[in-house]
Amino acid sequence: MYSIPLIKPYITQQLKDSVLDVLDTGYLTEGPVTREFEAAIKDFIGCEHVLAVTSCTTGLELALRCLGVGPGDEVIVPDYTYPATATVVNIVGATAIIVDVDPTTMNIDYDKLEAAVTDKTKAIIPVSLFGNPLNYARLNELKAKHGFFIVEDSACSLGADYNGSMVGTHADIAVFSCHPRKFVTTGEGGLVTTNNTEWAEWMLSYKHFGMGVADSRLTANFDRIGTNYKLSNVLAAIGLAQMKDVDMLLAERRELAERYKQLLANKAGITLPETVEGGTHSWQTFCVFVEERDAIMASMREKSIEVQIGTYSLHMHKAFTENHMVRIEGDMTGSKYAFAHALALPLFHGMTVEEQRTVIKELVQLI
Ligand SMILES: Cc1ncc(COP(=O)(O)O)c(C=O)c1O
Repeated sequence: MYSIPLIKPYITQQLKDSVLDVLDTGYLTEGPVTREFEAAIKDFIGCEHVLAVTSCTTGLELALRCLGVGPGDEVIVPDYTYPATATVVNIVGATAIIVDVDPTTMNIDYDKLEAAVTDKTKAIIPVSLFGNPLNYARLNELKAKHGFFIVEDSACSLGADYNGSMVGTHADIAVFSCHPRKFVTTGEGGLVTTNNTEWAEWMLSYKHFGMGVADSRLTANFDRIGTNYKLSNVLAAIGLAQMKDVDMLLAERRELAERYKQLLANKAGITLPETVEGGTHSWQTFCVFVEERDAIMASMREKSIEVQIGTYSLHMHKAFTENHMVRIEGDMTGSKYAFAHALALPLFHGMTVEEQRTVIKELVQLI
């Protein structure tokens, strides 16, 4: 246990009570509480459809299957991301084309993305990394020019927005994670958003064993081969209780991030990622760039401050280098930089000014 942890899940007494209420109903599979959780997310994001699933990873797979991505297709993904972004491409039988990121935002490099487009490119999975929104105007220009689908890996981006519309409304399909590092969590879980009713119905059916969407569950017809990616009422109750406070939780994250920025102002040797013009970061992860990241990370952890790397560079892993269903494009300079220098700082509900000062004091001493 660290005295200042990276994240603390937001667990109130009201949340515990609502989980117990669900247990008392005996209705433990996906059901009305899952529907309420989806409705709360839909209202918050302002999209047409939300489907709760078992994880962001299964949600991304569901999205690709819905769009008909499969063998013979190519899907472009960024190098600097959690491996799930690329593995789902292989899971549906398509080839993952890995391109570099812009080291200033840590999001996909749009020029390199375009250079990697071929006549086999069926979709792209850009990642709004750490809650940093993408340049959707640029992505939509590329989509219009090249005709691919945009499936956004918005695992960390609940609450981020671009030109006044939230992440979850810009891509063809966007997928969020409800892993406990996210500020709205269900333990394990994910959320798929789209404005396309046909796709939403297809995905609902597929995640529900392939059942006809309008069928009563007593006399179902099975229209297609499907699977089970349902999110239980019990887990949905956790997320639903957190959604009641989502505006407060998001505003607090932004305040904490602003305070970090003030504390870091004019501190040599520490830089911050940039955000696209018109975009508002959700600060799911507050990352800084420092030169001697590994040494700093070790020393801060020794002082009981839980700091972490940003995420992974896929081209450094056997799963992708020794894989005939993956093509790695370019030398990944941006991704290498982010992987070596990004340091995630603690940021959680209830974090005090004193705790933030302690983090920055220790960090600055190590530069
Ligand atoms: C960018 C990104 N994509 C996908 C995932 C996988 O999410 P999940 O654990 O919900 O499957 C993560 C995990 O944090 C992530 O950071």
